[in-house]
Amino acid sequence: MIDTPNLHPAKSQLDHLDWSRILDAVTDGLIITDRHFKVLFVNRAFLSLSGLDASKLIGQKCHDVFSSELCFTPNCPLTKLTSISGQLIFDDEPYCKNGNYEPWVVTITAYPDANGDIAGYVERFTDASAFRRVKQALSRSHDRLRRNMGAIIQAISTTIEKRDPYTAGHQRRVTKLCRAIATQMGFSWERIQGLRMAAAIHDLGKIHVPSAILNKPGPISKHELAIIQMHPRTAYDILKDIQFPWPLAETIYQHHERLDGSGYPRQLKGDQILLEARILAVADVVESMASFRPYRPELGLEAALAEIESNKGVLYDASVVEVCTSLIIRQGFDFETKSWQRYT
Ligand SMILES: [Fe+2]
Repeated sequence: MIDTPNLHPAKSQLDHLDWSRILDAVTDGLIITDRHFKVLFVNRAFLSLSGLDASKLIGQKCHDVFSSELCFTPNCPLTKLTSISGQLIFDDEPYCKNGNYEPWVVTITAYPDANGDIAGYVERFTDASAFRRVKQALSRSHDRLRRNMGAIIQAISTTIEKRDPYTAGHQRRVTKLCRAIATQMGFSWERIQGLRMAAAIHDLGKIHVPSAILNKPGPISKHELAIIQMHPRTAYDILKDIQFPWPLAETIYQHHERLDGSGYPRQLKGDQILLEARILAVADVVESMASFRPYRPELGLEAALAEIESNKGVLYDASVVEVCTSLIIRQGFDFETKSWQRYT
């Protein structure tokens, strides 16, 4: 048998201590109640945190002190503490009935009587305002980082477009269509941000393609096509080590893949292709066909829609094609209209 060490000295050694003075020395606020939640004791720190008067608290019930939507409901946190080993922690701000609004973290534990049954509760109130200030500062810093990330992506996008005047605006317009499709498909705001960023720089890899090939009027050779087709991989290599909160590098890597495996550079098929990349593929094709290219005149939106419709479910994701077609035909989406600016 293992002896359990007695953590407490003999009771007689504790009897002479002035417990209220000791508890007043605790820096966290304390309320001790009986098992019917009647307040038996409050320490000095609680009075200081709450701005309440001890004489108005002793003998009151918990709900006489605090005002919460949970008071008098079966969801009252205190009624859920049914064993002395239980503990409740909550950090939503309780309102005192005097109107004070306090950034507290509250920990509630039950204490036992001689038989081990619940005799009452100890509620500990920790001032969380410092913690909250740190949380707010972190949140501001996170927002700043997010804005900077967007600005960097925009700078990369502008750099690509400066070098390649024929695709100037291409990435911006593809981004707009991607965002409209993803919104219609019910993407979360967060996921849409990732897709927008991928779309805004999806042709980044073209910086590795000589301008003479990119801007060549007329048909291009097999060799030149092979060089152009390296651009998703080049972009991936540039971006892969940056820890974006989205699969940005992979989405760009896949934006020329096709459902039936006829795309490039890895001939991925079906579900191997991210939904983000399938949206980007459709938006890229539609925008490209609708716009002028050095080697051909503008084909127009009608031809672009005919292309995605005739290859729906073969090359392009069927649901993405349906949403894209509906946006353009029934909802009046176009790449320049002001009413669609919110999708830019
Ligand atoms: Fe591309």
